[in-house]
Amino acid sequence: SYAQTNPIKEDGNNSVTAEMLNQIIENNKKYRNEGEVANYIPELSKVNPEYVALSVVTDEGKIINAGDVNQKFTIQSISKIIALMIAVEEQGEQKVFSKVGYYGTDKPFNHYSNLETDKIPLNPMMNAGAILITSMIEGTGEEPFQKILERIKYITKNNTINYNKAVYNSERETGDRNKGIFYLLKNKGLIEESEESLNNYFKQCSIEVTAEDLAKIGFYFAHQCQRFDGDIRYQNTDMARLIQSQMLIAGMYDFSGEYARIVGLPSKSGVGGGIAVSVPGKMGVGVFSPALDEHGNSVVGYKMISDLSQILGLNLF
Ligand code: DON
Repeated sequence: SYAQTNPIKEDGNNSVTAEMLNQIIENNKKYRNEGEVANYIPELSKVNPEYVALSVVTDEGKIINAGDVNQKFTIQSISKIIALMIAVEEQGEQKVFSKVGYYGTDKPFNHYSNLETDKIPLNPMMNAGAILITSMIEGTGEEPFQKILERIKYITKNNTINYNKAVYNSERETGDRNKGIFYLLKNKGLIEESEESLNNYFKQCSIEVTAEDLAKIGFYFAHQCQRFDGDIRYQNTDMARLIQSQMLIAGMYDFSGEYARIVGLPSKSGVGGGIAVSVPGKMGVGVFSPALDEHGNSVVGYKMISDLSQILGLNLF
């Protein structure tokens, strides 16, 4: 296999270098032709499909970057793990998981027909569960969104982060399916308020980040909610376990099972082309490449993570 034949591994020197990351980008960027940039949200289709970035935060909190690491893109579904964390902090694990399940699925991220027969959404990573989770965060108006934004700024130590208003408006104008899901949840008595929480969901998806920001998010959950610079304000082992287990079973949607078998690492993707990876107790990885496969996961992103995992022997299993 690649891992056995890779000289980096055979030398016993498995520390991450920028050259290693650049090589992984070079080996994989051609695969962008196998995917397509998300176009169901018109504003997302405008992104340049050539962008590619790979970032690692090592176990010592050192940042190693390659490719278009300054390029911003929308965080999309990766915001769901931050929202879940805040909802659990405020409401407790038991209450949150009385309203949403923790099941894997063979259905796409915007699947909703199970709401007709099941009492609650399948998990907090699919849209139905995620919209419900955002509605559980306390506060009126934009406050729940602001909490998500503030926590992302804290984790990344990047105060320039904000949401992209054009993407937000585009999501809102064309998000009929999410609107439908919201009203089904409301009809079932799981959500009470007006469309504010739906708008907060669209806003959280529109937050702009870089691959480095995602690597820091991955690191945070890999290190019991400790920040890459050692700040332990939110340190919480149970929370890190909860979030990473969700990432493992549902973070890549209906591809999660195959991904767990091949890569074996808790990961969360978004249709902006980003993936955040947590290597428990070790590193955080962030990737960006906008062309997506049929599941809504970055094609090149997935291949780069597979290679990095093989070279460094990161697979948990
Ligand atoms: O709900 C949506 O349609 C998007 N704003 C977010 C979905 C997403 O990122 C799914 N990902 N792979």
